[in-house]
Amino acid sequence: MKKFIQISVGFLSVVGIVAVLVHLFQVTPPKGMAIPPGPEWFSEQLPRYKEHPILEHVHILLGGFFILAALVQFQPSVRARYIRIHRILGRLVVIAALLMGASGFMLGMLIPFGGFPERIVVAAGAGLFLYSLLRAFYHVRRKQIPQHREWMMRCFSIGLGVAGNRVLDGLLYPLQLVPDRDLFWITLLLAWVICLSATEVWIRKTRPQFRPGF
Ligand code: HEM
Repeated sequence: MKKFIQISVGFLSVVGIVAVLVHLFQVTPPKGMAIPPGPEWFSEQLPRYKEHPILEHVHILLGGFFILAALVQFQPSVRARYIRIHRILGRLVVIAALLMGASGFMLGMLIPFGGFPERIVVAAGAGLFLYSLLRAFYHVRRKQIPQHREWMMRCFSIGLGVAGNRVLDGLLYPLQLVPDRDLFWITLLLAWVICLSATEVWIRKTRPQFRPGF
């Protein structure tokens, strides 16, 4: 199971970084080519980000930073040998994740491609993301390291779920089961449920028997 988790985390991290680069460099498909999340996404949704350039760039750049920094933070060898780096980078990750989560929430409220249902899904996802982050911070301040690790894993898995959304949307898009806008929020919800469930299984499998202060 460890190998499966490592491969999935690596794959979703690459997808997340590619999504950031594709958005930053505004890569769009040739005219007439229907690729996910659909033609309306490229013709209508992408230009709407320009109405909120600060939110757009804060979210996307810090999202990329969050993924890369989290990969370093979860390395046991880094924590064992360079605990100072883990602490300094950890503080930067908390600040970046607060801004990234808040800007993601704002984008979901202001310009949701999937309309009202996306607003609900994003509000729930952003709430869980920020709650997990703050719980992780709360526990590390009290030196409750096992709990800190668990809440950071939940927080990271919600971040990776956003990349999972791209993957699921890409896989289900050719079936054309529902309108493109609906597929967007449905796959976001599905990706978050899958990522959080897998994380819970992994947390329970690796949880120490005795956890002081929980
Ligand atoms: C983990 C890091 C994250 C990365 C790398 C990331 C990346 C991106 C990118 C690149 C976009 C622009 C859309 C695109 O071109 O694909 C975007 C939009 C968005 N992100 Fe994130 N994101 C992350 C985390 C989150 C989180 C935790 C939330 C939850 C609040 C969130 C909510 C949103 C929303 C609501 C949009 C607008 C979607 C729409 O167009 O309807 N993101 N994100």
